[in-house]
Amino acid sequence: MSKMIDGKTRVLGVMGCPVEHTKSPAIHNMLAQELGLNVCYLPFHVEREDLQDAVKGALGLGILGLNVTVPHKSEVIKGLADIDDLAKEIGAVNTLVRVDGGFKGYNTDMPGLLRAMADDKVTVCGADVVILGAGGVARAVAMMLAKNGAASIQIFNRTMEKAQAIAEEMNALVKQDLVKAFALADLAELDRSKKYLVIQTTNVGMDPDCNSCVWEDPAFYELVDVGYDLIYKPRETVFMQKVKAAGGRSYNGLKMLLYQGIIAFELWNQVQVPDELAYKVYDKLLESLD
Ligand code: ATR
Repeated sequence: MSKMIDGKTRVLGVMGCPVEHTKSPAIHNMLAQELGLNVCYLPFHVEREDLQDAVKGALGLGILGLNVTVPHKSEVIKGLADIDDLAKEIGAVNTLVRVDGGFKGYNTDMPGLLRAMADDKVTVCGADVVILGAGGVARAVAMMLAKNGAASIQIFNRTMEKAQAIAEEMNALVKQDLVKAFALADLAELDRSKKYLVIQTTNVGMDPDCNSCVWEDPAFYELVDVGYDLIYKPRETVFMQKVKAAGGRSYNGLKMLLYQGIIAFELWNQVQVPDELAYKVYDKLLESLD
């Protein structure tokens, strides 16, 4: 937030339901303050039936930009003037940017994950990837990894049909047999001559379910080079502990959260957030988890 709200302050915000636990105001108001920008970021609790009115109202009020979170990321698309190609392919928008005649929708979640990985010196290009889970987030992750040169992508899910549906869709998109689908139990059959980049996208292990892990078998963790859990609360999930215990590197989803915010902030304000500031905001986010 700028130091003083005045007649020139521009408004940003996040629409969600619920929205009360969001960390986005902390990220954006700190960025604005540090960069000396006269913008203010607010949470907006928007019920499903009010979503289209909220988008129109935001436009009428001159709101500069909005984030969109659960459960509105797909539904918001029909109220937009334009949509970015990546967001269209993913089918989910988390950022609205003001353009002539309305808002343009972007997805900064996947670019956010990619930037977090780059920052953690994790290379997607050429990686053999395992995705745990086959929900909406897993689908977006599979797409992002396919577009960024992963050597192979194997999706393991409790409900195998959902993994199959994602694999078929992605293979049609990239026009090759890159993505394969399996049941969770098939993790025991993974090729043991390789090491994997593993992305944990299920909600198993998320606070308050902190002692659970989607796959317990220690033999699997010996094959994990890098493990990303998209959960950030708790700070270290059981999945991450198991990756570490077997000698791999593990990360939580907090940096993805940070960078999806930073990329949105850069789109709205046409600035580049320097690395030192990104790390400063990251430290504040870490503190807020304790
Ligand atoms: P998101 O949009 O965050 O991806 P989602 O679409 O609800 O959320 O997907 C949740 C994922 O977590 C799914 O892959 C789900 O498995 P199913 O497709 O079999 O439902 C997975 N998941 C949730 N609880 C699970 C559990 N107890 N064990 C294994 N997988 C679980």
